[in-house]
Amino acid sequence: MHIVGARPNFMKLAPLYKEISKSIHSQKLVHTGQHYDALMSDVFFEQLQIPNPDYYLGIGSGSHTQQTAKTMLALEEILLKDRPDMMIVYGDVNSTLAATLVCCKMQIPIAHVEAGLRSRDRNMPEEINRILTDSVADILLTPSQDGSENLLHEGVDTHKIHLVGNIMIDTLVQALDIIEKNPQLLSKSLEVLEAIQHKPYILSTVHRPSNVDKPDSLQHLFNALSEISSQTDVILPLHPRTKKQLEEANILQTIPATLHIIEPLGYFDFIYLQKHATCILTDSGGIQEESSYLKTPCLTLRKNTERPITIELGTNELVGDDYDLLKEKVNIILNDQYKKGQEIPFWDGKTAQRILQVLENNL
Ligand code: UD1
Repeated sequence: MHIVGARPNFMKLAPLYKEISKSIHSQKLVHTGQHYDALMSDVFFEQLQIPNPDYYLGIGSGSHTQQTAKTMLALEEILLKDRPDMMIVYGDVNSTLAATLVCCKMQIPIAHVEAGLRSRDRNMPEEINRILTDSVADILLTPSQDGSENLLHEGVDTHKIHLVGNIMIDTLVQALDIIEKNPQLLSKSLEVLEAIQHKPYILSTVHRPSNVDKPDSLQHLFNALSEISSQTDVILPLHPRTKKQLEEANILQTIPATLHIIEPLGYFDFIYLQKHATCILTDSGGIQEESSYLKTPCLTLRKNTERPITIELGTNELVGDDYDLLKEKVNIILNDQYKKGQEIPFWDGKTAQRILQVLENNL
């Protein structure tokens, strides 16, 4: 059984679901409903050809405790009736932790896809979710060597750790092929590029509580993005959390026309814009990885990252909330003096195959 809840889970689920459907094993899918908007959820199921969930828990918004506790209660009921041989959890969202807690109490073996990542910042809810999930999961599937090393340092048994690579790259590799053969799938991104007359552009996403939940920090961030956009247009698909905060702080109406705020995009449109952007400014986790694979420069608006390989080998750098540094780095990129990035081991589109092998050895 797989469990997913929020947008970044869906691209991790898709390739493994497809791989398992080619095997002798049966599988079921639970969607907690942590992300419920059509643009945050349905469009990904459709584009990534993930079948309708067998169970939809309808958890929705709420405090972290509410999301976690509601998921636990609803999932326990399902597992009492429909007990899988293994639960597969993904990433670091609240749904991941909730499912892990229920399964370990019911003694259902847990496999964690994207195990071992650590930002070492316990103010991030995701860091707590990662540490707790990894401390009780049975099979820890890491995307890169640093993830395996983090787990070893925390005292995890070597036999539980499997370096399988980055499953999001499987989805990305497949999507690049689909996009190339079916340009009609890109209507939204092409519309945006038309609006900026196909000029070079910067792509940005922001949603981390540390950047958007305080009106002052939000204002500073949007001042910096507005200033940068006067030089090169910035396209910013808006996360619902950020939208709410911008509305409450009355910032939306002060944004210049060169900072193009648009609705959240589906997967294909977003990948296409990432591939062709001059650079990316983001506080997301997954986008640091995708941009490294695509070799698009990425400046991360955080003080730390749980994905250091994207800095070491990829195209990522951290700028935190130092917006002078941000502008300086953007100029380096615009002048084509930024690092180019290298291949990352095991980010090759074959992670789902390796994961299935590990799961079969452990069933
Ligand atoms: C969650 C994950 C984060 C991930 C992000 C990607 C946790 C702790 N955080 O953060 O790791 O990077 O998803 O998007 O699990 N909302 C909607 N419609 C939706 C979903 C959310 O309007 O479909 C609103 C909610 O009402 C809430 C806000 O967006 O106000 C935040 O949603 P929430 O699920 O709490 O966390 P994210 O910030 O999206």
